[in-house]
Amino acid sequence: MAVKENLKQNTLSRRPQSYWLDSTQKTDYPALSEDITTDVAIIGGGMAGISSAFLLRNEGLSVVILEADRILQGTTGHTTAKITSQHNIIYSKIITQMGKELAQQYAQANEAAIRFIETTARELGIDCGLIPQAAYVYTQQDKYIRQISDEVEAASVLGIKAGYVKELPLPFPVKAAVRFDNQAQFHPRKYLLALAKELTNSGVDIFEQSRVVDIAEDNPYVLTTRQGKKVRASKVIIASHYPFYNKDGLYFSRIYAERSYVVAIKAAGKYPGGMYISAEDPTRSLRSQSAKEGELILVGGENHKTGQDKDTQRRYEALIDFAYANFEIEDIPYHWSTQDCMTLDSLPYVGHFTAKTPNLFLATGYQKWGMTNSTASALILRDLIVKGESPWQEVYSPSRLTISASAKSFVVENLNVAEKFIGGKLSPPAAAINTTCTHMGCELSWNTAEKSWDCPCHGSRFSSEGDIIEGPAVQPLKDSHDVHTIEKLLKDDF
Ligand SMILES: Cc1cc2nc3c(=O)[nH]c(=O)nc-3n(C[C@H](O)[C@H](O)[C@H](O)COP(=O)(O)OP(=O)(O)OC[C@H]3O[C@@H](n4cnc5c(N)ncnc54)[C@H](O)[C@@H]3O)c2cc1C
Ligand code: FES
Repeated sequence: MAVKENLKQNTLSRRPQSYWLDSTQKTDYPALSEDITTDVAIIGGGMAGISSAFLLRNEGLSVVILEADRILQGTTGHTTAKITSQHNIIYSKIITQMGKELAQQYAQANEAAIRFIETTARELGIDCGLIPQAAYVYTQQDKYIRQISDEVEAASVLGIKAGYVKELPLPFPVKAAVRFDNQAQFHPRKYLLALAKELTNSGVDIFEQSRVVDIAEDNPYVLTTRQGKKVRASKVIIASHYPFYNKDGLYFSRIYAERSYVVAIKAAGKYPGGMYISAEDPTRSLRSQSAKEGELILVGGENHKTGQDKDTQRRYEALIDFAYANFEIEDIPYHWSTQDCMTLDSLPYVGHFTAKTPNLFLATGYQKWGMTNSTASALILRDLIVKGESPWQEVYSPSRLTISASAKSFVVENLNVAEKFIGGKLSPPAAAINTTCTHMGCELSWNTAEKSWDCPCHGSRFSSEGDIIEGPAVQPLKDSHDVHTIEKLLKDDF
C-alpha cells in the first residue's frame, strides 16, 4: 500500500508530460516575418492542418500553415493515437438519428482514413511504429449488452468487419464486446513530423508562433497574425481545433471542449494486445506502446467539460487506482491530459464554414476520434477545394440540418453549467492577472493538475501568467480588454 501511495504521489508531483512529445524532437519553424500570398492558408498545425496541407500540396496548390505556437503540440501531441473507425457506440446511433446513407458515409470516410495513414506511412517509409491492431468496445454491465450487439449489426451492415465477442484477454471480466478488425495504432508525432518535413522539402511554408488573430473576408481573404503580418489566400482552412472565428457560424454555441486523462504505466506482465474502450462511464481506454522505457500501457479516461471540474488531480488518481487494480505496476513514467471538441450530434464539422462561404473551410469537432476524422477531413477538404464535392460531405457538413434545432438549448445548457461552476475555484493562485476569459468574457477556473486557468464556456486555457495555452481565445489575459460578452453575442445572433 505504501509503495502504491508513494508511486502515486511521486507521479503526481511531476509536471504532466506527454510521451509523444517527450520521445520526439521539438520543432523550430520561423514566425511569419513579411506579408505573403498563397493559394491555400491553413490555420493550425495539428493533425487536421498538416494532413490537409499534405493532400493539397499533392494537387499542386501553394499552401502555407500558420501555427499559433509549435506544430503538433496541441491535442494531437497528447492523444492516445488509436487509428480506428470504431468510435465507441456510434453506427447504430447514426443510423437511428440520420439514416443508413449518412452512417455509411461516416464509416467509409473513417475506414478510408485508416487505409490512407497506412499507405502514406508505408510509401514514405515513415518509422512511426504503425502496427495493425483489433479495436474493441467492451461492457461490464448487462444493460449495455444490447447496445454492443446493435453496434455489431450496424457496423456489419455498413461494411465494417465487426464481430461480437464475450471474452477478452484483459485482467478483468467483460460481459460483451464489439470487435473491429484491420485497425491500427501508431506514434502520431513521428508520422506527422515526417509529413511536415515532406511539406517543407517541397516548398510548403510552415510558420510557427504566428497566431492568426483576424480573418478579413475580402477576395482574396486576408489573415492577420499576432505580429501584424498579412497572408492573402484564395482559400482558407480553419484547423485551429476550437474555431476562434465566429462570424455567422455560431460555433461557440455548438461546440464544447471536453478533457480526458492518460497515465502511461510499466507493468510486470506483458500486455495482451488490442485497443480497448469501455461502453459505459467512467470511460476506460487501453492500448500499449513500445518505448525506450520498455512496453508502456496507456490507460485513459475520466472525461469532463473543460473548466468544470473542481479538482482535476483526482482524475489522474482515479486512473492510477484503476491501473493498480488490474496490472502489477512497476513505474508510471508519464501522465498527461488534453481536450477535444465535442458537437451537438456527436459528429465532426468539416466543410464550408457556412453555406455562404465557398472559400472558407472548417475542420473540427472530432469527439476524441480525430486520428481518422482529421485524416478524413483532409480528404474531404481536398475534394471540396479541387473537385467541388466529396462523397462524404453531407454527414460532415457544418451546416447539416440536424444541428440547428438543438443549438439554442445546447448553449443555454452549457452556460447554466458554466455559471453554476463559477465561484467554485479550488485554491487558485493569487491572481495578478484578470481571470476573465478574453474570448467572450466567461470567468476562468483554476486547473489544479495542469496549473492553468481554464474556461468553462468554450475551453480556452491560459498559463498562470496569462499566456494562451489553447484557444479559441486569441488574446492573452494580461492584454484583456475589449471583451465581448456572451450575452451580447447571443442577443445579436439568436
Ligand atoms: C485524451 C484524448 C485521447 C484521444 N485519443 C484518440 C485516439 O486514440 N484516437 C483518435 O482517433 N483520436 C483521439 N483523440 C482525438 C484526437 O487526438 C484529436 O481529435 C486530434 O488530435 C485533433 O487534431 P486537430 O488538428 O484538430 O487539433 P490540434 O492538434 O489541437 O491542432 C490545432 C492547432 O491549431 C493551433 N491554433 C489554435 N488557434 C490558432 C490560431 N488562432 N492561429 C494559428 N494556429 C492556431 C494550435 O496551437 C494547435 O497546434 C483523443 C483526444 C483526447 C482528448
Ligand atoms: S473560451 Fe469562450 S469565453 Fe472563454
